[in-house]
Amino acid sequence: MSETTMPLTFPKEFLWGASTAAHQIEGNNVGSDWWKREYSEKTDLSEPSGDAADSYNRYPDDIGIAASLGLNAYRFSIEWARIEPEMGHFSTAQLLHYRGMIDLCREKGLEPVVTLHHFTHPQWFANRGGWRAPDAVDLFARYVEKVLPIVRDVTWICTINEPNMLAMTRGEEGTEMAAAALPTPDLQISESLVRAHKRAREILGQVPTIRSGWAVATQAFHAMLGCEAETLAYGYPREDFFLEAAAGDDWLGVQAYLRTFIGKDGPVPVPADAEKTLTGWEYFPAALGIGVRHAWELAQHTPILITENGIATAQDSRRIDYTYDALVGLRDAMDDGIDVRGYLHWSLLDNYEWGSYKPTFGLVAWDPDTFVRSPKPSAYWLGEVATSNTLFKPAMP
Ligand code: BGC
Repeated sequence: MSETTMPLTFPKEFLWGASTAAHQIEGNNVGSDWWKREYSEKTDLSEPSGDAADSYNRYPDDIGIAASLGLNAYRFSIEWARIEPEMGHFSTAQLLHYRGMIDLCREKGLEPVVTLHHFTHPQWFANRGGWRAPDAVDLFARYVEKVLPIVRDVTWICTINEPNMLAMTRGEEGTEMAAAALPTPDLQISESLVRAHKRAREILGQVPTIRSGWAVATQAFHAMLGCEAETLAYGYPREDFFLEAAAGDDWLGVQAYLRTFIGKDGPVPVPADAEKTLTGWEYFPAALGIGVRHAWELAQHTPILITENGIATAQDSRRIDYTYDALVGLRDAMDDGIDVRGYLHWSLLDNYEWGSYKPTFGLVAWDPDTFVRSPKPSAYWLGEVATSNTLFKPAMP
């Protein structure tokens, strides 16, 4: 851990929370393209999502736990495949379900941070060509219009989660790939996502109190000696393009986990002797500070919200180490004048990591037979950081 002498405090009103995504915790998201892929005979994934953490039914427990820990914000996503299970058919019951989540957050003193799109699509949307279809943006805009009435009083709305990962994986390959070379993004999809984001912002902008943005995966690209030009060329379509598109938004979500070294022929594998996490990524907490600084420059000083940062590990004390050091880097970036509004840890719960339950990112574990939740020591620690608004190292056991 880094050595610090002064207590590291954070601004009043700083959001301290945890993030989740519908498909990864709700379970039985049967109308989505991911469900179809998980259960197809020729699936490329290790295991399907199934019941996940059953958070669709147990969200009161999850929101209750986040609040009881002392957090003041909860990020979750609304599932398009549930709201519009068939093209043009919108479910009032599902809209009310998510409205119930917003109400409960408020009741428990948690600021809801609501994501409208987190990787999954309705199957019918994917069948029509997904983001490549000529009317994809109109279809997304229509969904956003239908959701608007239930989010009118929500301040923080994220239109699209990690458009850069979406454009790279096209929803066809797992994010496990982030450890290796990432495919070249499909430019048509990238542009379509930017248009979808801008249309969504226009719609949300009808309510002046809504502050909207999108959340980009920052990858802390590092040039190997003499490979600066290759690094720029590699990083631009995979990250910078999306950060630049956020200039002028109400806020920009930064999601940071890792760094990637770029050599003459693209990404260089993580050295064999480096500490690795359960996703195969290098243990690199400085990714957060680096990602924030980069995002701040490229998005021309758009205010930042950390919408994801965390580590897949079975050793919970390592989660605390990682998060502590990541927050030291964040505080340092803030001391240099970067406007950061909050920190939302990934993730509240162990969850379906796009193909496998093995990489455990959660502050809270759950029993697969009973779904009973058990907060880990890291959850209590982050809760105390949140309530004291001060970063401290936990006492050694
Ligand atoms: C995504 C999450 C994912 C996390 C860890 C981000 O790419 O938004 O859905 O679980 O990182 O891989």
